[in-house]
Amino acid sequence: MSDRESKKEADEAPTLPRLYERDAAISAAEAAIDALGREFAAGGIELGSLLLYSGKAGLGKTSMLRRVRMLAGRQGLTVCSGRAGEQRGNEPFYLLRQLLLPELLRLEPEQRREVLGPWHDIAGPAIGLVVPTGERADPQSVRVGLDYVMTQLARLKAPLVMLVDDLQWADLESLGWLESFAQRCPELPVLLAVAWRSGELPEQAQAFRALVAANPHRHLEFKGLQPKATEKLVREVFPDTAEDSFCRQVWAVTDGNPFLVNALLAKLRESGIEPVHENVLLLHDLAAEAQGMDREYWLAKLGVNTFNFAQAAAMLNTQIAIPVATRIAGMTPAAAAPRRRRSPSCAASRCCTARPRVRWSSSTRCWPPRSTSRSGWACAPRCTARPRRSWSTPGAR
Ligand SMILES: Nc1ncnc2c1ncn2[C@@H]1O[C@H](COP(=O)(O)OP(=O)(O)OP(=O)(O)O)[C@@H](O)[C@H]1O
Ligand SMILES: [Mg+2]
Repeated sequence: MSDRESKKEADEAPTLPRLYERDAAISAAEAAIDALGREFAAGGIELGSLLLYSGKAGLGKTSMLRRVRMLAGRQGLTVCSGRAGEQRGNEPFYLLRQLLLPELLRLEPEQRREVLGPWHDIAGPAIGLVVPTGERADPQSVRVGLDYVMTQLARLKAPLVMLVDDLQWADLESLGWLESFAQRCPELPVLLAVAWRSGELPEQAQAFRALVAANPHRHLEFKGLQPKATEKLVREVFPDTAEDSFCRQVWAVTDGNPFLVNALLAKLRESGIEPVHENVLLLHDLAAEAQGMDREYWLAKLGVNTFNFAQAAAMLNTQIAIPVATRIAGMTPAAAAPRRRRSPSCAASRCCTARPRVRWSSSTRCWPPRSTSRSGWACAPRCTARPRRSWSTPGAR
């Protein structure tokens, strides 16, 4: 990025951190948002399009979505955004509620009734607007109801920008609906931007994978920053003192991952290490620490069941009867089996005497640990059709 461009970006987005090497992504988002606003003002309806961002942890997907939000806000477009929760994948429609509920709650009661229409009792509970009756709704009906709600919301709030972050953690109900909505999106004045971690989408996301494959021009896979941009990040923190070889080594140990670069820079500042050549050898270990690969990180990888099992085994001291430990842990024998396999000493016998190496400390007491979500290290023809201004409302009955 040239200095002039950087300055322009900084002027335009005073509250957002500067994003290096994302010019193409930002321009594509700008073009999509401009087109949506302009073509809607000119009477268009079927204007929907996609922005798809993937990349490993820390490469800037959330930052990019924030940028899209800012660009849309500047054009006065309505923005709905939702983020899947790493620990909320078992909650049906959790992601969808994050996405739609705030905007639905902002509506007047009369408008809300209109949006829900005849699907009040079916779609309402899914998006958290109506208290569930306890009866299990037919999933297909819920989906049709949600399509109806979405169409009505888009009609009321058009043009609409929808941002979905961390799709890899989406509950399957939201994922299924989003997959079909993404296909339908061209029929509506909606720009849908979705971000997910590369290689972490669940197996069930086949339709989404197919959608990405069918829209390569809308998909950007983020990579680590180049040495030059990494150096700029270092010099933002150490403007006068950073030596070239030090900057180069920061890039080498972080692979240009901006999250990791920032975390490493924070560690350096905290520990008072000078950014000079003679300290380059310290960077490797500091980067591992900054990455959070400490004891808590490895414990978190074990999962709650494994931890509960280990805790139960620790209570039994040296006489660990597996069925007893399983009962104490409140697990079924089937659920306990994979935990036992993780312990070589438990694999061969029903009773093992090995003492699990769990040291009780303040960090193990607070379990499960708050995930830092960083464990996974390691543009297009616009829709120019301007059809009749009519609203197709699926599921109207
Ligand atoms: N292109 C970039 N230039 C400078 N800094 C960046 C860039 N991209 C991201 N960052 C910074 O790196 C950090 C991580 O970014 P972000 O949270 O957007 O990553 P992410 O891809 O969403 O990660 P995760 O998969 O863990 O959610 C943030 O502090 C952000 O400001
Ligand atoms: Mg993110």
